[in-house]
Amino acid sequence: MYLIAGLFLYAIITVFLSKKYPETHYDWENIDCQDYQFPDNFTWGVATASHQIEGNNNNNWTDFEKRTGIEQSEGACEHWTNWKQDFQLIQNLGVKSYRFSIEWSRIQPEKDSWNEDALNQYCEMIDDLISKGIKPMVTLHHFSHPIWFEEIGGFLNQENISHWTKYCKKVFSKLDGKVSDWCTVNEPEVFSIMGYYMKMFPPGKGSLFKTIKVMKNMLRAHSQTYRALKEINPKSRIGLAKNVTLFDPLRRWNLVHWITAGALNYIWNGAIISALAKGRMFGSKISGAKNSFDFIGLNYYTHALASPFIPQKVGVQLPKREHEIITEFGYVMYAEGLERSVKLLSKLNVPIEITENGVADSNDSLRPIHLKRHVWCISEMIKKGYDVRSYYHWSLMDNFEWAEGYKLRFGLYHVDYQTQERTLKQSGKDYQKIVNS
Ligand code: GCO
Repeated sequence: MYLIAGLFLYAIITVFLSKKYPETHYDWENIDCQDYQFPDNFTWGVATASHQIEGNNNNNWTDFEKRTGIEQSEGACEHWTNWKQDFQLIQNLGVKSYRFSIEWSRIQPEKDSWNEDALNQYCEMIDDLISKGIKPMVTLHHFSHPIWFEEIGGFLNQENISHWTKYCKKVFSKLDGKVSDWCTVNEPEVFSIMGYYMKMFPPGKGSLFKTIKVMKNMLRAHSQTYRALKEINPKSRIGLAKNVTLFDPLRRWNLVHWITAGALNYIWNGAIISALAKGRMFGSKISGAKNSFDFIGLNYYTHALASPFIPQKVGVQLPKREHEIITEFGYVMYAEGLERSVKLLSKLNVPIEITENGVADSNDSLRPIHLKRHVWCISEMIKKGYDVRSYYHWSLMDNFEWAEGYKLRFGLYHVDYQTQERTLKQSGKDYQKIVNS
């Protein structure tokens, strides 16, 4: 009797969860992805980050690369010297915005010294973008920072936040008037989980306690910077870029899988949304986090199928649904998740900027389909009334993919790292068409 009642209850719970948290899958064969519509003021863009393209940095990442023996970033795309030519490539695509990051270690190589030349170069770069009709969106922290900051504990110590805010104010004051859209931090969840739990990013620690501490401090850092910069110019638009990875239960009838997915969803997505919406994260108050954003940046790549045996490594092949296509990163292509992520972030009641979306695909065989499906999904969400303002493709060109090095190619332009020659891929041509249509 008890057994039957137990089984019945179990079935009710799993059916309830399945209904409440559906895992959408479209029949792509029967969808016309060319059937999309965008408002005239929708912004098309491309995205990069300083450490991944500039080359010859000296920061927490170069230090980590040497220490761990992973592939070294070295000259990367030599963008620090080739930027003019690269901006021409952006213009050729026809996009009207470019998201990139400022390399803090260039601006403040030592705690007490500022490199005005580097700051002036960023200024010159931004002037060039503007003269080309390309609006800059500047990220102030995209995973890399100076070694001196790392040595004093980085974002693990709450008292270090003031150093970061000081750097942000310096950059902001210089570029204010030229730049109106700012991302404070890029993917605080990825930075803390990969660096302090998975050991795959600097500083390479393996502690859940530290991970949570860093995540909280990054949200504090974001909030304090938001307020400090708004004081300088209340009209600027400031937000942060949130990576949304959706965790779905591997087996939808398995409660343990549901519980794992729920926990991972909270750590990866819910905790940050809660900080931004309610000013609380993991039971602590994150002061100033509520209303500390004029938009929310969405970086979307995939969903993951959760079970207690979910691989705790990136770059390995993850479980997939039968019909799903695995990308070279080891995770699946799942455009439907972009719609679900937009829905999730719409709870924050601010415009959504899709600050990153793309795929690792070395021979450009998947990117054209990937692009079509994701663009179609955005158009559907806009039709349904969601306030999505922009789409930044990751990435302008192939670049240094962090722990994965150069083998993963995310670019619309192919980069030959020997000659630094850039070549537009088929997907780049497709994007050009979408943008100009
Ligand atoms: C991230 C970053 C980018 C990556 C991109 C592809 O999500 O890790 O914001 O720097 O290169 O997402 O993985």
